[in-house]
Amino acid sequence: MDTHIIVELAYLVSAIMFVLGLKRMQSPATARTGNMLGATAMLIAIVTTVVDNQIISWGGIIAGFLIGGTFGAVASYAVKMTAMPQMVGLFNGFGGGASLLVAVVEYLRHAGSVGTGTYGISIMVTVLIGAVTLSGSMIAFLKLNEWMTGNPITYPLQKTLNALLFLGAIAAAVFAMGVGQFNPDTMFWILVAISLVLGVTLTIPIGGADMPVVISLLNSYSGLAGAAAGFVIMNMVLIIAGALVGASGIILTMIMCKGMNRSLTNVMFGAFGGTANIDKSQIGKRPVKRADAEAVAAELGYVHSVIIVPGYGLAVAQAQHELRKVGDLLEQRGVDVRYAVHPVAGRMPGHMNVLLAEADVPYDKLFDLDEINDDFADTDAVLIVGANDVCNPAARDPNSVIAGMPILDVDKARRTIVMKRSLSPGFAGIDNDLFYNDNNLMFFGDAKQSMSDLVKALRELA
Ligand code: TAP
Repeated sequence: MDTHIIVELAYLVSAIMFVLGLKRMQSPATARTGNMLGATAMLIAIVTTVVDNQIISWGGIIAGFLIGGTFGAVASYAVKMTAMPQMVGLFNGFGGGASLLVAVVEYLRHAGSVGTGTYGISIMVTVLIGAVTLSGSMIAFLKLNEWMTGNPITYPLQKTLNALLFLGAIAAAVFAMGVGQFNPDTMFWILVAISLVLGVTLTIPIGGADMPVVISLLNSYSGLAGAAAGFVIMNMVLIIAGALVGASGIILTMIMCKGMNRSLTNVMFGAFGGTANIDKSQIGKRPVKRADAEAVAAELGYVHSVIIVPGYGLAVAQAQHELRKVGDLLEQRGVDVRYAVHPVAGRMPGHMNVLLAEADVPYDKLFDLDEINDDFADTDAVLIVGANDVCNPAARDPNSVIAGMPILDVDKARRTIVMKRSLSPGFAGIDNDLFYNDNNLMFFGDAKQSMSDLVKALRELA
């Protein structure tokens, strides 16, 4: 068979595997095999590309493989679960950067004469999206890693400046394709520079709890940049894989916006969620009721229904296995135990599902916000483990920085027990009135230690 046909067939197989892999991501039960399917598809695509006879520099490929592979492996092993969003942000940026480089190299091969056809347009689109993804992701990384302020950075005429930069980029792209009297090469480098600046100026006004949405959006951009680069080098599988990343990234972005009850435009341009104007000196200053492990065991062990709300602190403490034991012990006592998972609990989409799956909590005990929110009013006790913002009643106050974010209505239950180390705020940086409610108990301590104390106390219950 013609090599060309074999190559195209291999690309087709990997494209089908990508789609099937994505489909399996729909449920935690099949997500692992979905991931394996996607990874195998990528391997097939890479091997096919590498054995295809158009490769001109094996040295470059091996060097890239060694440097990139080592960096990726070390970073993945070293990263803490809690720093995953930054890491994803950084890798999105590299994806955009790689597409940018492909477009730059292609431009340089035909400098000044890329034309105004598909080829020239694809190069310009790749540069624009790739550069915005690269610099935008770097800003997102710095913000999430707290190497620069996480608050929105705003200044007068910000949106106007962004609009002008965008128009400037389009004009530079048109001239770089040889339209008009300007030097195309100069215009091309101006396009690269403006696009990099645009990535920064689009990302700095976004802050606080909106950052995960931005990461997801940049993920989508990195896919679109990849797809555009696929058109530049006419690589079918790159076009398909890039389009899949672009589409799934945008779907995830929309799901997250829905989770926070915000529009994408509001997230992108609303400069929302900053805490610069909040008086932090008053946070955690009011009296609370405390409880130790024995008291909490008694509160949970003799009731009919308990809902467990996991949050970011559960991930920090890696207390999921102990939490599972608590759930099992309560069930053995005849308590109906369910887990309420908020769409943005933790620091990445699906964070809590992954943690609970790791501890083998049965999937049918996990409930989304919409499925379980009405049940809190009929629930005896809610155990909130390392969660804060996702059940902060401040979201019902139109003046709050988390105004409108759907929350788990835990305060409607007969008893709430909050398990965390202190009265410190969560990601949004604001106090939580729930802690001071009459029917709330604070169970202070590191979640892992507290959960194992609770396991002991439950075992000793009559
Ligand atoms: P948060 O509101 O961030 O609260 C987590 C709480 O965990 C903190 O108040 C902290 O209190 C406690 N904690 C930390 N380490 C702990 C430990 N070792 N043991 C026990 N508790 C510990 O978490 P959440 O309720 O899950 O809400 C998530 C927030 O992150 C939302 O604002 C969301 O918008 C944002 N966000 C979400 C994502 C996604 S996509 N999920 C991504 C980025 C940001 P102490 O310090 O007192 O212990």
